[in-house]
Amino acid sequence: MCGIVGYVGARDAQELLVASLRRLEYRGYDSAGIAITNNGRIEVRKSAGKLQRLDDLLEDQPIVGTTGIGHTRWATHGVPNDVNAHPHTDASGDFVLVHNGIIENFLSLKEALLEDGHEFRSDTDTEVLVHLVADEYDGDLLEAVRRAIGRAKGAYAVVVMCAHEPGRIVAARMISPLVVGFADGETFLASDIPAILPYTRSVLVINDGEMVDINADGATVQTIEGEPVHRTPMEVTWDAGQAEKGGYPHFMLKEIFEQPAVIEETLRGRLQSDGSVILEGADFPAGFVAGLEKIWITACGTAYHAGLVGRDVLEKVLRIPIEIDYAHELRYRDPLIRPGTMTIAISQSGETADTLAAGRLATELGSRLLALTNVVGSTLSRDAADILYTRAGPEIAVASTKAYTAMLIGTYLLALRLGLERGTLTAAGAAQLAGELRALPEKANRALDMDADIAKIAGRIAGVDDIYFIGRGLDYAVATEGSLKLKEISYMHSEAMPAGELKHGTLALITEGTPVVVVLTQSHLYDKTISGLQEVKARGARVMAVAYEDDTEVAKYANHVLRIPRTADFLSPVLSIIPLQLLAYHIAKELGHDIDMPRNLAKSVTVE
Ligand code: G6P
Repeated sequence: MCGIVGYVGARDAQELLVASLRRLEYRGYDSAGIAITNNGRIEVRKSAGKLQRLDDLLEDQPIVGTTGIGHTRWATHGVPNDVNAHPHTDASGDFVLVHNGIIENFLSLKEALLEDGHEFRSDTDTEVLVHLVADEYDGDLLEAVRRAIGRAKGAYAVVVMCAHEPGRIVAARMISPLVVGFADGETFLASDIPAILPYTRSVLVINDGEMVDINADGATVQTIEGEPVHRTPMEVTWDAGQAEKGGYPHFMLKEIFEQPAVIEETLRGRLQSDGSVILEGADFPAGFVAGLEKIWITACGTAYHAGLVGRDVLEKVLRIPIEIDYAHELRYRDPLIRPGTMTIAISQSGETADTLAAGRLATELGSRLLALTNVVGSTLSRDAADILYTRAGPEIAVASTKAYTAMLIGTYLLALRLGLERGTLTAAGAAQLAGELRALPEKANRALDMDADIAKIAGRIAGVDDIYFIGRGLDYAVATEGSLKLKEISYMHSEAMPAGELKHGTLALITEGTPVVVVLTQSHLYDKTISGLQEVKARGARVMAVAYEDDTEVAKYANHVLRIPRTADFLSPVLSIIPLQLLAYHIAKELGHDIDMPRNLAKSVTVE
């Protein structure tokens, strides 16, 4: 994520940049900074923490000037501290830039720059870009930026300023969003429209592979290859509040719809075409993976449910025992955790008190702790020997959706990485899995197409007393998360269980019209689950099935079928959770609940 802004005009840039960044804080708030050109010099102020800290700093040390850039950070490389905060400058201080995205080849670029005598101050991938721009500069900022980004690989939006060319800002986009705004005698740049909406409604969206060169009189756009681009700005008609949620009525829905991009982002630069995996934060000692005897998984809430998928996936690939427990149970269990094991602590926030405690216990007992977390620099990431960051971006809704999917992707990457090293996964098997993983963003997009149909079904279920979610194997793991989503935001009683467990008690509660959701994607368990389904159907249950789009059997038994694109059964949780998230969302909406902030719950539970 990260939010970026730029301004050229006649107003006080400091005030305008900070106000614009405030409207982008939902994109990240690990640190913030601005740079302004002032009498041919560039001045930078930046600070770790929320934007307010930068605002306080500027109160003491204001910068005067009318051209500037700004950034609010969601850390991906380098912990959130003052030095890693953007903007970044080159050694001369004449070039400055802000960046949103990831420069995948930054390590090799950095090595080359270090050999050429460049000195680096931060741990960010971004800093390489400003050194490249300075190196490439021969009097024209646009050309320098073009040549610099020609050497970079990855996803980025970058905004660059140079002390030698006051009143000019150059920006480029490759995947990460960027818009330009126009007003009389002033021009704006931002990650998204709401940031600049109070100043202008005339906006041009910059496309992938385009560069934009702005001054107070306007902007020229061209492709990175230098082809001129002529597009007319649009007139924005919606308001800023709507826009922060990207036009969605709730953050939860926005985050559900962000999942295809999050899957892609979490795989980016890690999954190689042959199925091998680069995990930049995991540095296992020689022989550790080959000698691994057991893996423990620990987490709470949605992260625990991601761990349930992880248990089955890792067990299948690695052929060693995998044990999972809630962090609040594990920490008090006196568990037999031994050296020679790995413990995976999963936590979106990296701050859940019980998960931290369970992770520390595992470390004390000699296990090697791996953090699977979404927050760079979080306590969990600092506690762990190895880190696998999911790249879901900030998740605002309390009910977790995109962070869960990113955790699943993290687990598959880990399974590939460890399985290949242990030799339990063949190169051909890994390559096949990699192909299936790469197809998931597009398939997740198609799964989201069901939104309107699910909204209709939700109306018929909203407000019932009880609802049950069943499945077997990985489908059971998904059922647990589907059930949690529903209870969190609908306040309806909901329970998940393995389909085979139904007849051991819960079947007594199934009567005419009781809704039962069945997840049905695991081919080897299909017939067994269908017979469980017939049992509930015979007692009058209203059955909703989540099944593959080419399943011709299921409609005979289910009242409604929510269809997802076919994928390897092993990967189906990434897709089968989507209709369940949407179902929970639409039921809660039907009931008129506060979807993004459900009663009694918190996004991050930092107390026991
Ligand atoms: C809270 C949140 C859940 C989350 C759980 C674990 O209960 O409401 O959405 O799954 O904490 O949080 P973590 O940050 O450790 O993943």
